[in-house]
Amino acid sequence: MNNSIGVFDSGIGGVIVLKEILKILPNENYIYFSDSKNNPYGDKSDKKIIEICDNIVKYFIERKCKAIVIACNTASAKAVDFLREKYPKETFIAIEPAYKMVYDKSFDKQTLIMATKGTIESEKFNSLYEKYNNHKTILLSCSGLADIIEEGETSKIDNYLNKNLKKYAGKVNNVVLGCTHYPLIQDKIKNVLGNVEFFNGAPYLAKHLKEILKERQMLNESNCKGNIEFIDSSDSELKKQRFFKYLINK
Ligand code: DGL
Repeated sequence: MNNSIGVFDSGIGGVIVLKEILKILPNENYIYFSDSKNNPYGDKSDKKIIEICDNIVKYFIERKCKAIVIACNTASAKAVDFLREKYPKETFIAIEPAYKMVYDKSFDKQTLIMATKGTIESEKFNSLYEKYNNHKTILLSCSGLADIIEEGETSKIDNYLNKNLKKYAGKVNNVVLGCTHYPLIQDKIKNVLGNVEFFNGAPYLAKHLKEILKERQMLNESNCKGNIEFIDSSDSELKKQRFFKYLINK
């Protein structure tokens, strides 16, 4: 079998997920779907997100993808259960905020979880939070942050972080980047918060994807580097350039 792996997010944030996957699965072929037309997902209703994700999944199925990676915490939190039920034969791998990793590695430390409003309010996130709660955790719903990262609006990002994060400087040790857009501005977050440890689910997702493909004998055994096809729902050439720049450089 030599089919592609479909990866999607509400824009280019999922590049941080694909980058981790490529480190351990370089020979697979990928179709990355950047749904910038519908960005942000974070403030949309469950119904709308499910509808959007369902359409993307239908497209990946048409393209005969062998696995589908939901590289968006909001989409995972709100739509993965629906998708798994509707498409039981498909292989879905979904990212989630790396709060279990805090539990495993740094349980006793003050923790800040940054995520979209949709993720923070979701049932799925709340059961993860209850399961691994260290009672030293602040939940920060970052409405509007993914949008300005998606648009690359540097001064707006700086203002946003100063306004919303400064109060936590020196007060938290761990920061869970619970939206795939946030690792793209990790340095800026560090500038505001100081010396914190970041937790991001992408490396764990990549490992999990590889295990699943291996278990189901779906790994591409080719020795050649795979292909990466980039599709943006608003046909933005600029998004494409930024995506490949992050993929190669950052
Ligand atoms: N990158 C996404 C996430 O991980 C979604 C951001 C948004 O569209 O609001 O949650």
